[in-house]
Amino acid sequence: MIRYFFFLFALGFQSCFSQQSFLVDKNIEKQIDLLINKMSLNEKVGQTCQITLDALLKRDENNKVIEPVSIDSDKLKEAITEYSVGSILNVGSHTLDINRWKHIMENIHKPFLDKKVKVPLIYGIDAIHGVNYTVGGTLFPQEIGLAATWNTQLAEAFGHVVAYETKASGIPWNFSPVLDLGRQPLWSRHFETLGEDPFLASEMGTAIIKGYQGKGKPDAYHTAACLKHFVGYSNPLSGRDRTPAWIPDKYMKELYLPPFKKAVESGALTLMINSGVVNGIPGHMNHHLLTKILKEDWGFKGFTVSDWEDFIMLHTVHNTAYDLSDAVVKAFNAGVDMSMVPYSPQYMEYCKIMIKAVEDGKISEERLDDAVRRILRVKFLVGLFDKNMNQATSYPDFGSEKYKNLAMKTALESITLLKNQEGVLPLTTSKKVLVAGPTSNNLIFLNGAWTHTWQGVDAKYNTKECLSVKEAFEEKIGTNCLFAQGAELFLEDNYENSKLIDEQDFLLKCKQAEVIVLCLGEFPSTEKPGDIRSLNLDPAQLRLAEMAYASQKPVILVLVEGRPRIIRTIEEKASAIVQAYLPGDYGAEALVKLLYGEDNFSGKLPYSYPRFDGQIEFYDRPRSVDRSKSNDFKAYNPQWNFGFGISYSKLVYSNLKLEKTAINLGESLKLSVDIKNESERKVSEVVQLYLSDMYASMVPSGKSLKAFQKIDLNSGASVRVEFILTPEMLKFVDVNGNWITEKGMFKLSVDDLIAKFELK
Ligand code: BGC
Repeated sequence: MIRYFFFLFALGFQSCFSQQSFLVDKNIEKQIDLLINKMSLNEKVGQTCQITLDALLKRDENNKVIEPVSIDSDKLKEAITEYSVGSILNVGSHTLDINRWKHIMENIHKPFLDKKVKVPLIYGIDAIHGVNYTVGGTLFPQEIGLAATWNTQLAEAFGHVVAYETKASGIPWNFSPVLDLGRQPLWSRHFETLGEDPFLASEMGTAIIKGYQGKGKPDAYHTAACLKHFVGYSNPLSGRDRTPAWIPDKYMKELYLPPFKKAVESGALTLMINSGVVNGIPGHMNHHLLTKILKEDWGFKGFTVSDWEDFIMLHTVHNTAYDLSDAVVKAFNAGVDMSMVPYSPQYMEYCKIMIKAVEDGKISEERLDDAVRRILRVKFLVGLFDKNMNQATSYPDFGSEKYKNLAMKTALESITLLKNQEGVLPLTTSKKVLVAGPTSNNLIFLNGAWTHTWQGVDAKYNTKECLSVKEAFEEKIGTNCLFAQGAELFLEDNYENSKLIDEQDFLLKCKQAEVIVLCLGEFPSTEKPGDIRSLNLDPAQLRLAEMAYASQKPVILVLVEGRPRIIRTIEEKASAIVQAYLPGDYGAEALVKLLYGEDNFSGKLPYSYPRFDGQIEFYDRPRSVDRSKSNDFKAYNPQWNFGFGISYSKLVYSNLKLEKTAINLGESLKLSVDIKNESERKVSEVVQLYLSDMYASMVPSGKSLKAFQKIDLNSGASVRVEFILTPEMLKFVDVNGNWITEKGMFKLSVDDLIAKFELK
């Protein structure tokens, strides 16, 4: 029997000493002092200003960007030498090749290299599932799919590849990862999250950051991470992007803050602020969160950056600032260090307003110097002052086979099998398969938004050699693959919709096929364009499923979706159901490998998959939620539970053993469980440990995830997995907002096994 042992570190939610002191290097700080002493007010203000690349591009007489994009030297001179702008972001509307990036970087760094300005620019980009704005970059599953792997080593490896390829594009700063919790499935950015659980998000998030930043300060192959979007952005009451959330202090502390805190402790260099409003306070005006908690309590030493136009929004959208000047002062004094202004001429106005605010004493010089110090610190740490700006001479692994294989492995470990009746899967190649459905015939559906363009809907930029689901099937089984799309997704009135197409062809092919693989799902989108009115799948997709069932052939539903769409009415008649999430460029090939049994499924849902549109709940609900009059109206009754996912193997859990049945306050508890693979196939399994506090002075959550480990099991093999439950894991936030532990009975569960212990 192999023995696995893993120690679970204290989460330390309640500790308040500085967690980032290791980022403060004496020599660097001295250089920063020297620089700050030499900088004029104009230069300091410029450091806090971020503009979009679009504002600097050459345009024709109709103000259209001239392709291929290039920098307008007059605009650059004005921004960098006159206004001393400290940062540029984004991409000129679509993916650029490496040479174009090189050209842009050479241009924008020239003023610093020619000693025309004292401080180099920092360029930032959203490389959120690979360097998605560079042609030939390796595209992984979106974060929700990465979370479904529950594999922290893979998350770190993903982070490394993304950082490497981002640096290969000359960019040292990545606006990723999103650490917002996926607890509002209507929200258009659910797919950008690591799911509903704070522990899973903390573990996976920290691993991604390790991959992005490397060890110590980022070298030529690593970038700064940017934690998004601090905090509570993901939980809009209305479900619509950038609309208000209500998050009581207890749940802010227990759920939403921990992934950010852990990420700060791990050395994350930058953080982006929530564009929305929590408890009536816009994220960009929240002094308590930005200054008190983040900078003072957690000791964050990097800098905060606003989200898109967000100081402007304080005036124009949230109505908490009576004009732009008031907005700038309020945001900056709350703790926003850099403003993503980002357009021209707005950035000029921003700089002028900032200068006047400092001259008038509305922003203190001390506060300005603090922001500039933080920005300079990150610029030093990412190596922008180093020789060659910390760029390697070449990046031979960019777009390499090695990296593509890793993206494929990530997709293989993420795609989640939710149902497999009567062994319809794995498929055999001799069977005639109809591949159908609106998401089957184009790579855009597999990648989702933030792919080559912001919304990811323009197929002309698709990676050439990568396959749609239809193409991957054709490659696997040739003429045994039939195709009829059946329905088409489109945007109408700003909302997604679908319509049936060529029904007769679809019905005919259903007749001819032995198995139907029906790919349903969503149109790619994010942010405001991704707002929806309901989680229900639209009628045309439901109808298509019913038409497929009517053929009496086994139907495998493949869900290609950024958020869980309600499939209750079509679930029962499906023979198998697979959640693909947004699996990226290699998603279709991975899917086909899994469906044909070349690889085993191991993905587990990182969220509760809702059964009803109007009933959204999470696995860690209080036990009172399950109080019901009849069994068929249980309050928590999702289609599939958080952490669920099956495979081709049969796993048996046994012997959940606690070292002791009673422990004292402050003591840890060791426990173990045995898992056996009673099948012919090798499998990876995510062993999940949950804790329930039986009685407490505030309603305890029914259970919460405290540890997990992904293990490999050969056919017939057994493994003993050991966990250590630390005192930190028993804590909760009390009525006064403090983390406390209360004595009493606790329950631990792994799979269906349960054990109890007492805290004395
Ligand atoms: C998004 C951020 C993103 C930024 C820059 C904003 O609209 O909310 O997540 O990093 O744009 O592209």
